[in-house]
This record gives sequence, structure tokens and C-alpha cells, in this order.
Amino acid sequence: MTWWRDAAIYQVYLRSFADGNGDGVGDLAGLRSRLPYLRDLGVDALWITPWYASPMADGGYDVADYRAIDPVFGSLAEAEALIADAHGHGLKVIIDIVPNHTSDEHPWFQAALRAGRGSPERRRYHFRDEPNNWPSRFGGPAWTPVADGQWYLHLFDAKQPDLNWENPEVNAEFESVLRFWLDRGVDGFRIDVADRLVKAAGLPDIPGAAAPSYMDRGGGQPDKDRPEVHEIYRAWRLLLSEYEPERTFVGEMWVRDAERFALYLRPDELHTAFNFAFLKCAWEAEALRDVIDRTVETHHRVAAPPTWVLSNHDVTRHVTRYGRNDTRFTRRRHDLPSDLALGTRRARAAALLSMALPGNVYVYQGDELGLPEVFDLPAEMRQDPVFKRTNGKDLGRDGCRVPLPWSGGEPPFGFGEDGSWLPQPAEWHRLSVESQAADADSMLSLYRLALRVRRAEPALGDGRMRWLESSEGVLAFMRPPGFVCVVNLAEEPIDLPPGTPLVASMALEDGRLPPDATIWLRRSV
Ligand code: GLC
Repeated sequence: MTWWRDAAIYQVYLRSFADGNGDGVGDLAGLRSRLPYLRDLGVDALWITPWYASPMADGGYDVADYRAIDPVFGSLAEAEALIADAHGHGLKVIIDIVPNHTSDEHPWFQAALRAGRGSPERRRYHFRDEPNNWPSRFGGPAWTPVADGQWYLHLFDAKQPDLNWENPEVNAEFESVLRFWLDRGVDGFRIDVADRLVKAAGLPDIPGAAAPSYMDRGGGQPDKDRPEVHEIYRAWRLLLSEYEPERTFVGEMWVRDAERFALYLRPDELHTAFNFAFLKCAWEAEALRDVIDRTVETHHRVAAPPTWVLSNHDVTRHVTRYGRNDTRFTRRRHDLPSDLALGTRRARAAALLSMALPGNVYVYQGDELGLPEVFDLPAEMRQDPVFKRTNGKDLGRDGCRVPLPWSGGEPPFGFGEDGSWLPQPAEWHRLSVESQAADADSMLSLYRLALRVRRAEPALGDGRMRWLESSEGVLAFMRPPGFVCVVNLAEEPIDLPPGTPLVASMALEDGRLPPDATIWLRRSV
């Protein structure tokens, strides 16, 4: 079995994971020192968010040099040492590749500014005399003028000019970058904004330009999900297949239509992609069952394993989402009350659900600690460009990027010497790794146990599932041979089907599964 069909993958948001040099910003030294933590957690692979040289206008998703590590994170030698150490612990390493745009400080963009209109340097980006009506996904227009009166396209921040993928030089450069890192032993790439690289020829207006939104507006629009983008991934897949042992691609596409989404996962394209339909779904039995069915069905047709994702560095943390009245994720909201005890209980149940479903499971750093979203960050400390570009209407994504609490009774909880780049809430001492490791009932203990069982269970990971009959509000399914998962989303405790309990997200009540809880059972076959 190939590892990427089964893996439990831990997302490391490098700036906020662990701080090795005490400057308050996470780095490679910190990550290296915590590899044993990740090994013991029981994950199989890491996805590390961009570590490249960057002015950090978008947390490193604005890359100035794809072959260098930003000094705030460390050095190339340290990255190589990290890959070797991770492999030594049995952990695969997936890195982020950002092909839709560079930083405006990338030598190519600087050369384009200097070279002037009509130059080959400008043809690596999208320069025009007139902007079209496209909105930036971060708010405001997607165009910014330069000194000579031309405008350049940026689907994200103005410091992230979009590359022109119709120019073969662009692909040649990225293929060389992929090889640079493959030769250094990385096991795969997470492709940032994978559906947006190609734009409609001539950059036509978006009909009735939708309000700027970080999320999707459906497929096949001028600025996203163009059919030509698939050619890029076919070529990349061929390139990857030259390498042994097997390497992998995971795509980030906010493409709502499941059929169009699956096109990226055809056998000669990307191996897997983040399942945002599952992430966005309400904590409700019918809605979840629909998303699961649709996911499994569309992935099966292209023989790709599904992925199950609850949170990442772009969305409101799910402990907070699941504690609200409306548990869907449609966009970031900070004005909705949340019952965090309820959210945590549901997050425990959701963790077991996501780990029992067929395919890959993702754990975003801090999920395993049950961290909630942080809303009350001081405005001057916020770094997400979304906050500024929307004039604070959208608080942005800093609240899900607060550094992890490792140990001790007060901030920065073992992260940095004099404080971390974003302040942690004082009450996170209860959520620190140190305090949870000592508590058998903690979220961390649940993740450790469940990931261990997931790895040992032949039924889990890749494969098929079959729904079992269940009452309203209950999800029950079987993973052959002999593994059963039951999730109670109803309001009353329920009786369990036959089987021996393996892991439960909450203690049973008189042998019954309480509401908002999941249990794994073994049934003899
Ligand atoms: C992706 C990343 C996000 C980043 C954006 C622009 O959506 O996940 O963090 O801001 O791309 O690169």
C-alpha cells in the first residue's frame, strides 16, 4: 500500500509551532526539537507551510526565493537536517509550493518593474493598461497600478503578483524548483491555490462580479478552475513519477462542485486534495452523511483516496465553530457566540469520525490540543493582510494561528523567551501539551490513542466503508473487516450495536453512547 493513500498528516504552521531560538517566532530548530512529539502523537507525515525566503506579507505565501529558507526560520542546511531527522522518526515531509503568485520582492517581479511595458519580463506576470473587474480574495480590487501606469493582477494581496502560466518560462522554473526539493528528499508538495494558476484568455470580466470572497463561487469562472490547469498537473505528475520512493501531491482547491473537484484527482494528476466540503459541513447527521457519500463516490470514480480535514490555517478553528448554533463554515465570523465546552465535545467526536473514514486524515496543529479560535488579538499585532484589506471587517486568520502552548503556567508557554509573535490567552495553561499529556481524558490523550489504533487497524485508512442501519441523527458505518464507527448527533443517548469498544470520545452512560460522541467498536467477523 502506498503511504499517501492512508497517511495521517499533521499540518505544521511553522511560525506558530515551536520556537527554537527564543525570538517568539516558530522555526526549523523548534520543529526539529519537537519531532519526537509528532512521532509519539502517531502521525505519519508532516505538511510544513511555506518556509521560503519571504517578506512575510502573507505569512510566507509570498515567496521571494523558492530555493532559500527564510532566515527567521533557519537555513537550507537546517531544512535538510530536518528532512533527515523526520525520516529518522518515520515521518514523511510534505512542503508547500506556491505557484500562483510570487512576492513582489521576487527578482522576477523586480525585473518586470524595471523592464517596462511590453517586455518579456512583464510577460511572466499579468500586466495590463486597464484593470478588469476581478476582486482580490483578500478584499479590494485584484489590480494595483505601477509607476508607468500599467496595472498588475494579484488575486490575493498586492504583494503577491500572479504569475502568467501561459508563459512556458514559468512552468520551467517551477519544474526546476520541484526538482530542487525532491533532490533534497521531500516526500511531496501541497500545492497552494491549485485551481487558480490558469486564467481565462484575455482576462475577461467576471459576469456580475461577485462580492470578494475568500471562498469559492463555483467552478469554471474566468479567474479559477480553468480546464487548461490540468495540463500543468499532468506534466508535474510525470516529473514526480521519476522519483523513488514514491512522492505525492496534495492540492488546495476551493472548488465547490464535487465532479469538477475530482477532475484534479484523475490518476495522471494530483494524488489527493483537501476535502473542504467536509470542513465546511454542519455538525448534523444528514449533512455529514451527504458530504461523506458524495466524497467517497466521486473519489472512488477516479481511484483517489479522500481526505478528511476539520481545520487549517485559513479557517475558524472547529472547536469554536462546533460550539455555535450554526456549525457550518461559510466564512469567518467573529460575532457569533460559541459554547466552547460543547464545541470541544463535538471536536472530540469529529476527530474520531475523521480518523475512521476511508483515506487520509489531516490534523492541523493545535487540533490535538482542542485550541479554540482567538478573537481578542490587539489590532496592531495582527498580521494577516485580510484584516487590513477589509478594514477589520474580517478579522482575518491570525486567530487560528496563535502559537502552541507547550508548557508552564503562563504565556508564552514555552514558546519564545519574552513572548510570542501573537499573544496566547492566559487560560491556555490548561490546554498546554504539558498539562494535557498528564491527563488521560484530555484531547491530546484522545488523539494519541486514536491515531495509534488507526495505524494498527487494518480496516482503517484506505479502503471502503458501508453504512449500517441507524436511527435518526446517528451515523454508523462499518469498515471491513470488523470495524464499526458510531457517531451520535442526536439529542439522547443511544444503544450501541454489538461489538467491543476500542475508543470512545466520551464515557458511556449506562452502556449507552451520549449525544455528540463517537465510539469505535470491533466486531468479530
Ligand atoms: C492559500 C493559503 C493561504 C494563502 C493563500 C495565498 O489559500 O492556504 O494561507 O493566504 O493561499 O497564497
